[in-house]
Amino acid sequence: MKGMDSMAHEVKGVIARSKGAPVELTTVVVPDPGLGEALVRIQACGVCHTDLHYREGGIGEDFPYLLGHEAAGVVEAVGDGVSGLEAGDFVILNWRAVCGQCRACRRGRPWYCFSTHNATQKMTLTDGTVLSPALGIGAFAEKTLVAAGQCTKVSSQVKPEVAGLLGCGVMAGLGAALNTGQVGRGDSVAVIGCGGVGCAAVLGARLAGASKIIAVDIDDRKLAWARELGATDTVNSRETDPVEQIRALTGDNGADVVIEAVGRPETYTQAFYARDLAGTVVLVGVPTPDMRLELPLLDVFGRGGALKSSWYGDCLPDRDFPMLTDLHLAGRLPLEKFVSETIALDAVEEAFAKMQRGEVLRSLVTL
Ligand code: APR
Ligand code: ZN
Ligand code: ZN
Repeated sequence: MKGMDSMAHEVKGVIARSKGAPVELTTVVVPDPGLGEALVRIQACGVCHTDLHYREGGIGEDFPYLLGHEAAGVVEAVGDGVSGLEAGDFVILNWRAVCGQCRACRRGRPWYCFSTHNATQKMTLTDGTVLSPALGIGAFAEKTLVAAGQCTKVSSQVKPEVAGLLGCGVMAGLGAALNTGQVGRGDSVAVIGCGGVGCAAVLGARLAGASKIIAVDIDDRKLAWARELGATDTVNSRETDPVEQIRALTGDNGADVVIEAVGRPETYTQAFYARDLAGTVVLVGVPTPDMRLELPLLDVFGRGGALKSSWYGDCLPDRDFPMLTDLHLAGRLPLEKFVSETIALDAVEEAFAKMQRGEVLRSLVTL
């Protein structure tokens, strides 16, 4: 262990103790970093839907969960066997530290890595109860323990609350456009669902040089945010048929790339029919296990093109986080627009409610 005297750390953290119960701020015991691990002092952590899904029991039953996974902070210490990372480094945490060994990694497609890793040692409550960190991170806490590969160094000039965004939802949306959708200069793009993820897809499409970016949502507040981030046209799909409208806005063809950022069969079907022949649909919204999709197979065949899903924006943290933070510092990626509010660690439950009411793009816990 390098960087500090050896001891376990008692810190404040937000846990979901049991299914459906409100989250609690409590004391968490964080071990010193062991082999291949890093201890990170968290400076900012975004409130994401996945944290709420954990607390509702939608992801698993391994309660108690230590929530929070969209975070940035400063490395406090690293364990043995860690190179290229040291105390004092400013990092964004990622929940897909690729292994370099599995068949996807070996085939040169590490964004599909089937064996991503997390810290081996466990964080606990003071009575020894083992915590399950959300997405292997657990960053609604003053400090957390992760695998060193989950730390990506970026410029310390970026504000922590802005950097943290890239750890999950905003990266998912940017990557859906840039990596999965491969949006190109002059393309027409439609984004269905303009929450944090969809608005980031709008921004990604703008960065890629799309000439028409059509934002679709059922909430006019979201459409206004999407416009601020680069949408050239907006469609309220409660009032107007989005498929017809997207076609009308693209010379009756449909969009080259349609990004679905809701995660529902109805909106996926809209995306499917709103794309141009041989266009691309990207599903970045996350469906629930009960959902089913029905489409005429002949249309799947006859319309050609690509139907893709985007995991974490198909990002490679070490490639994408520094590139995106540099673009932000150069004034070309206004990530600060996603920070609707900064809150304290004890306000996570309230932030879940605001998220459910659609009042925020992102609430960021700052420490
Ligand atoms: N048509 C269009 N938009 C819709 C519809 C619909 N039928 N239903 C919901 N929406 C909009 C909401 O109004 C909201 O603006 O979709 C948006 C969803 O945004 P958020 O709830 O803020 O969620 P976000 O964080 O953007 O994540 C979107 O991606 O990563 C996944 O799990 C995440 O499935 C979720 C999706
Ligand atoms: Zn791998
Ligand atoms: Zn998330």
